[in-house]
Amino acid sequence: MSFRCFRLLIHILREMGVASDILNWCVFRIFMLLVPLCMYARKIWPFSVLHKSISKNLGRPDNGTLMSLLIKQFLEVGNEAAETLAVDKCEIQSSDKVLEVGFGPGLGIQKAASLIDKSCGGHVSGVDYSESMVSAATERLTQEIHDGLVDLQHGSVADLPYDSNSFDKIFHCNVFYFWDDCVGCCSELLRVLKPGGLMLTTLNPNAVANAVSFDILNKQNANIPNYLAALKQAGFVNVVVVDQHRGGAVHVCIYAWARKD
Ligand SMILES: C[S@@+](CC[C@H](N)C(=O)[O-])C[C@H]1O[C@@H](n2cnc3c(N)ncnc32)[C@H](O)[C@@H]1O
Repeated sequence: MSFRCFRLLIHILREMGVASDILNWCVFRIFMLLVPLCMYARKIWPFSVLHKSISKNLGRPDNGTLMSLLIKQFLEVGNEAAETLAVDKCEIQSSDKVLEVGFGPGLGIQKAASLIDKSCGGHVSGVDYSESMVSAATERLTQEIHDGLVDLQHGSVADLPYDSNSFDKIFHCNVFYFWDDCVGCCSELLRVLKPGGLMLTTLNPNAVANAVSFDILNKQNANIPNYLAALKQAGFVNVVVVDQHRGGAVHVCIYAWARKD
C-alpha cells in the first residue's frame, strides 16, 4: 500500500511539473539522512527494521516494496558518476558485445547502448538478480530493447545465462560487495568474456567506506584488496587499479583482462 502511495505521489508531482531530477535529488538527500539515523538509532524500533531493510535492499532490492523504490531513486542519483565512468573507460566500439552485471536502474546499460551499432554486430546485455531492478531497467530501456540493441535477464552472476566467450567487455559498478563466493563469480565472468576481453569495475571508495561504517555493507566483501585477489585467483591478468575524478569525487577503476591460451 505504502509502495503504491509513494509511486502515486511521485506521479502526481511529475504531472505537476516537478522535474524528475529534482524529485530524485530530494529522495537521495532524504536517504543520505536516513542511513546514518537508522545506524545510530538501530537499537530502537522502527529504526532497527529500517536499517535491516536498507542493508538487504541495497544488495538485492525486493520486488514491489517502498524501500526498493527508494533504493532505485538513490542509485540513480548516487551512482550515476560510477556508471558513466565505467562506460567511458570501457571505450566501447560500435561492434562490441557488452555485458553489465548488477545493472540496477539501468543507467550504464542505457549509456553503453548509445555507443553501439546493431548493424555492426554491437549488442548490450544485462543481468541482475533483483526482479524489481529488472522491471525498473526494462521500463527505462523499452525503446532499446524493442530495437534489439539491449536484452536484460533476471539471473545471478554466480551462474550467468550466456555461452562461454560471448563478450568483448564486461562492466559492473557497486556489485562485488554482495558476492559471498567472489572467486566463483569472477571465474564465471571470465568464462563469458572473450579471450583478450576487458572487465572493468568502478566504485566510489569514500561512499563504500561510509556504507561499511554504517553497517549496511559487509566489510570483508567490500574490501578492494580482497576483490583484486579474487580476480587474480579466478585467472584474470593485468589487474590494474586507477584513481579517477568523477562527479566531484575520487572513483576507483579496476581493469582486469581475460587471457585464454
Ligand atoms: C548497489 S546496487 C548497484 C546498482 C548499479 N550498478 C549502480 O551502481 O547504481 C547492486 C545491484 O547488483 C545486483 N546484484 C548484486 N549481486 C548480484 C548477483 N550475484 N547477481 C546478479 N545481480 C546482483 C543487485 O540486485 C543490485 O541491483
